[in-house]
Amino acid sequence: MKEIGLFYAMNAAKTSHIAEKIREKLGHKEVEMILIEKAWQNDFQAYDNLIVGASTWFDGELPTYWDEMVPEIESLDLKGKKVALFGLGDQIGYPDNFVDGLGILAEAFEKAGATLVGFTSSEGYSFAHSKALRNGKWCGLVIDIENQSKLTDKRIADWCNQLKEEF
Ligand SMILES: Cc1cc2nc3c(=O)[nH]c(=O)nc-3n(C[C@H](O)[C@H](O)[C@H](O)COP(=O)(O)O)c2cc1C
Repeated sequence: MKEIGLFYAMNAAKTSHIAEKIREKLGHKEVEMILIEKAWQNDFQAYDNLIVGASTWFDGELPTYWDEMVPEIESLDLKGKKVALFGLGDQIGYPDNFVDGLGILAEAFEKAGATLVGFTSSEGYSFAHSKALRNGKWCGLVIDIENQSKLTDKRIADWCNQLKEEF
């Protein structure tokens, strides 16, 4: 497995916590953490394997800092790069926009030519609509700390094992 760049926002407390857990599972040496608020285009180009995490806010939008990054991500040339996404959301509080931010990020990285990996089953979640579904699967790892915190560690462990195969 090549070195991985893990991108997340420093302002996002829960996302940062999950990012740290993912790094622990994959190995500190293998994963470099990059704060999106300080990231430059070169940081995305520097890795063949990327992990990118964000929560959903504002009824189906990315948090502000990520929102501003989307046009920039879309303009990058990320052909040949593998991107694994994770998203945080609240399926009870926001059933009509559950983890939409994950779907918005997926679209941006696809426009940049990246290959998405790390898709997971949507079974075991209860919601009405989400932009993060692709043929019935999540286009990444979905974490709901508000309602399913007991499942979080296993979801992360399974996903990290999957990434070891897919990266
Ligand atoms: C104002 C507000 C709006 C939210 N909107 C959504 C939403 O549209 N969809 C969703 O799935 N979760 C939504 N959430 C839940 C957050 O995504 C969830 O709490 C997440 O764990 C926050 O992570 P963060 O602290 O890293 O930003 C919202 C939370 C707040 C406080």
